[in-house]
Parts: sequence; C-alpha cells; structure tokens
Amino acid sequence: MVKLPYLTALTTLISYGLLFLFGQIRDLFRKILDLLKFEKVQGKGYAPICLGLEDFYTRRLYLRIQDCFGRPIASAPDAWFDVVERYSNDNNKTLQRTSNTTKCLNLGSYNYLGFAAADEYCTPRVIESLKKYSPSTCSVRADGGTTKLHTELEELVARFVGKPAAILFGMGYATNSAIIPALISKGGLIISDSLNHNSIVNGSRGSGAVVRVFQHNTPSHLEEVLREQIAEGQPRTHRPWKKIIVIVEGIYSMEGELCKLPEIIAVCKKYKAYTYLDEAHSIGAIGKSGRGVCELLGVDPADVDIMMGTFTKSFGSCGGYIAASKEIIRHLKHTCPAHLYATSMSPPAVQQVISAIKVILGEDGSNRGAQKLAQIRENSNFFRSELQKMGFEVLGDNDSPVMPIMLYNPAKIPAFSRECLNQNVAVVTVAFPATPLLLARARICISASHTREDLIKGLEVISKVGDLVGIKYFPVEPEKVTAEEKLKKLE
Ligand SMILES: Cc1ncc(COP(=O)(O)O)c(C=O)c1O
Ligand SMILES: *[C@@H]1O[C@H](CO)[C@@H](O)[C@H](O)[C@H]1NC(C)=O
Ligand SMILES: *[C@@H]1O[C@H](CO)[C@@H](O)[C@H](O)[C@H]1NC(C)=O
Ligand SMILES: *[C@@H]1O[C@H](CO)[C@@H](O)[C@H](O)[C@H]1NC(C)=O
Repeated sequence: MVKLPYLTALTTLISYGLLFLFGQIRDLFRKILDLLKFEKVQGKGYAPICLGLEDFYTRRLYLRIQDCFGRPIASAPDAWFDVVERYSNDNNKTLQRTSNTTKCLNLGSYNYLGFAAADEYCTPRVIESLKKYSPSTCSVRADGGTTKLHTELEELVARFVGKPAAILFGMGYATNSAIIPALISKGGLIISDSLNHNSIVNGSRGSGAVVRVFQHNTPSHLEEVLREQIAEGQPRTHRPWKKIIVIVEGIYSMEGELCKLPEIIAVCKKYKAYTYLDEAHSIGAIGKSGRGVCELLGVDPADVDIMMGTFTKSFGSCGGYIAASKEIIRHLKHTCPAHLYATSMSPPAVQQVISAIKVILGEDGSNRGAQKLAQIRENSNFFRSELQKMGFEVLGDNDSPVMPIMLYNPAKIPAFSRECLNQNVAVVTVAFPATPLLLARARICISASHTREDLIKGLEVISKVGDLVGIKYFPVEPEKVTAEEKLKKLE
C-alpha cells in the first residue's frame, strides 16, 4: 500500500495545479492568436478531432517530458542494451534520432528470465523454425494457420500451467480484450480488481456484462460486493445473474504486488463465482518451477477456472494464452473472433515459447531453467531490500521482480528518468493515466540475466539520483553503533 506523505501530496497537487494553470493560459493565447489570423486556418469548418481533458493533458503535460518515454533501442532487451541518442531543435516538441547509441543497464524490460536475448537453446531453434515456416502463416487458425508448432505449444502450455487444454493468441492484450466478451455477455456480472490491466477493463466493458470493481487485492471487499450483487440480481429485473466471473492478476504490473489468491479463491468458491487469473507478469517468473502465483502460494490450478497469461515477459516472445477445461477451450475455439478471424501467432514466436518452456522444465537436458528461476528470485529480493534500506518507498512483495519506486511529484518524473539515463541506467517511469494522478512512479523490472555487479551499479546510480531528486521518502535511521561494537566488528 502507498504511504503518500501529507506534505508530498500537497506539493504534488500544487505542481499539477500550476501545470494545468500554465497550460490553460497557453491554450488561451493560442486561441486568441488563431482568432487574430485573418487567413483561413486550415481545416476550418470541421469539428476538432482531438478534444477534451485528455488531449489537454497530452499537449501541455506529457509532451513536455516526452523524451522520457518511448526511447528507441537498437539491440535486444538484455541486461544491458543500446539506447538510441536523440536531440531536439524545438524544445523537445519533436525528437530526432542520431546514429549514436549509448550502452545502458536495462532496468525496464519484462525480460524476467533473460530469454529475450540470444539463448544457446532457444535462438538456433527459432532460426530453424523461421527457415522452415517463415515469419507468418498468412492464415487464420481455422483455415491454414495451424502449424505443428501451434498444437505443440497448446499442449505444452496446458501441461505447464496444470490445466487440461489451452488456446493461443497473437497478442496478450487481445487475449483479454477478446476472450472476456466470448465468456460472458449481457445478464452476466464481472467483478474486477480495481487495479486490473487496461486489457481486462477493455474486454469487460466490451462484453456487455455488468462490471463491478472491488478494492485492490481485498478479499473481504470482494465478498461484500459479491453478496450485495447476488442479493440484488440483475439491474431492474432483479433476476439472478446468468454467471459471475471474478478477474484478478497474479502480479499487479504497476504495483509489483502478489495476488491474495488463496483468500480470493475461497470467497469465489463460497459464492460459486468463476475465477479468471491473468498471469502476464507471474507465469515463468515466480514459483519454484516457474509455474506462477498458484505454485508460489500453494493454490491448486484446478481451483482457477480460467488461467490467462502472456508470452511477452518471461518467455521473451509475443502472444498470449488461455488455459482452462477442455469444454471452455473448445467453446472459445468455436466462438472467439480473435481466434477465428485473426492470423495465427508467428511460428518463430511460437518456437521461442516452446524452447523457453522446455528450458524452464529442464527438458533441454540442462539445469539452466532452475538456475534462472533461482537467480530471478535472488536478484529481485536483493534489489528490493537494498532499495528499501536506502530509504526509497518501494511497492510490492518479496519474490516479485517488479518493483515500483514512488516519485509522486510530476517534476521528479523527468528528473529521475533523465539523470539515470545520463549515468547509463535506463528506467521506465509511469504516470497518469497508467497510475492515479498523484502516484507517479518509476518501475524497475529485474531480470535473471542481471549479474550482481549490474545490480550494484544500478543501486549506486539510483541512490545518487534519489538523493539529487529527493525521493528517499523514508530515510532509514543510521545504525547507532557504539565505539565498542565498532571495535568488535573490526577484530
Ligand atoms: C496484466 C497484463 N495483462 C495483459 C497484458 C498485455 O499483454 P501484451 O503486452 O502481451 O499484449 C499486460 C501487458 O503488460 C499485462 O500487464
Ligand atoms: C529536453 O530533453 C532533454 C533530455 O532529453 C532535457 O535535458 C531538456 O531539459 C529538455 N528540454 C526541455 C525544454 O524540456
Ligand atoms: C556521436 O558521438 C560522437 C562522440 O561522442 C560525437 O562526436 C558525434 O557528434 C555524435 N554524432 C551524432 C550524430 O550525434
Ligand atoms: C477499448 O479500447 C479502445 C482503444 O482505447 C477504445 O476505443 C474502445 O472504446 C475500448 N472499448 C471499450 C468497450 O471500452
């Protein structure tokens, strides 16, 4: 949970207030200047396409610091990567690429197990599959787009997550946004965690079901909402709900928090609601053998009705999956438009996932998978505890490779990002609308491919920049060591 200090909340609000005020003043001048222009402004007579507060936010707040976002890179997202240098001739309104790159420590990619860079087992097999199958099947799954690789991966994913069957999609986002409407529609009820990913929000809204939100990761509030809704029934008619699905995530991508899955499952069982678990960030990354939040928290996968995940994080590929009972998967294969009308997943991307899962399972004949899993846990826990010792406000749970560092103040977003980059550490900063307005943060993602030296370099830079930018909100009292103890330590 965020512990937003009172004074910080106030200064953050004032900062945004000033940014809004100056933005409005600039907009006003812009309007007056446009009115004074006698020649016809192009497009006159048309309604403006971009309007409203979001457009204002983009123009007057986001664009001022756009150099901190969407930085192009020129290599694989390994532990270190090449960041393209850019310059601007118009106060950062537009940014030009140079041919130069800077080698930076990568603390931003979701490359949890290090499979996103060349791998001795995966890469040769991916190249072979590229030669054999080409980059695209040029067909949908139901037509000519099902290769041997697709069926192999479906079986492998099902076995890996512990479900009877699975179905693949070319995109993680579309897996949520297209599957949810195929599972539930008018007359149904979706109960969604308040911090669920946008793809879930989009799919839920698009389904036509009624959507209710429960307080982030709070099983007691989930129960409250469930009871209330079951008692109420459908709006107006008060008929019972046709079905109820509760949607949660394994690791919350902006919080680094683990889902309270056992408690949530218990509530869902009690009220006979289906559970839908998005494991985008947890599958492959946590649990003793990489099987995600169920394995870590001791939940039987049979108790989760629909297990969703993506291949874009731990497996270093692209696409997503749904794993569930044979009946549900058959239903989806016959009804989901994203399965029926979209070109199937790229075969080399499928091969990459197959190879990565085989390494994780030790079926490549080595113990590299187990080593990677031990490494990501050790790296994450080391980095998190060191950041906390330094006095940063770090969100999330132990074992989670995602660790947000709270920045709060809008001016600290570019300051932190640019200063880190100046010292060859690339970090991701996130702000509104991905987070609430006052809760801007930097999000560190740790990888198994980071060495101890990499992590120490990252910590040194973040500590220095943290002092400079003033984000050590919880300074740790220096240990009071008596002279005697000091002597003892020296001995
Ligand atoms: C929880 C969650 N679900 C779904 C997605 C979408 O996955 P993809 O990036 O593979 O489209 C993400 C992406 O970050 C995510 O965090
Ligand atoms: C433009 O971006 C650079 C970093 O890329 C930063 O140092 C500079 O202050 C920015 N200029 C303005 C006017 O915001
Ligand atoms: C690339 O870097 C070199 C050395 O730092 C510098 O002299 C040169 O001007 C840079 N090139 C561009 C296009 O920025
Ligand atoms: C899903 O997202 C798209 C793009 O932001 C948006 O246009 C669309 O309205 C959303 N759908 C729903 C149902 O919210």
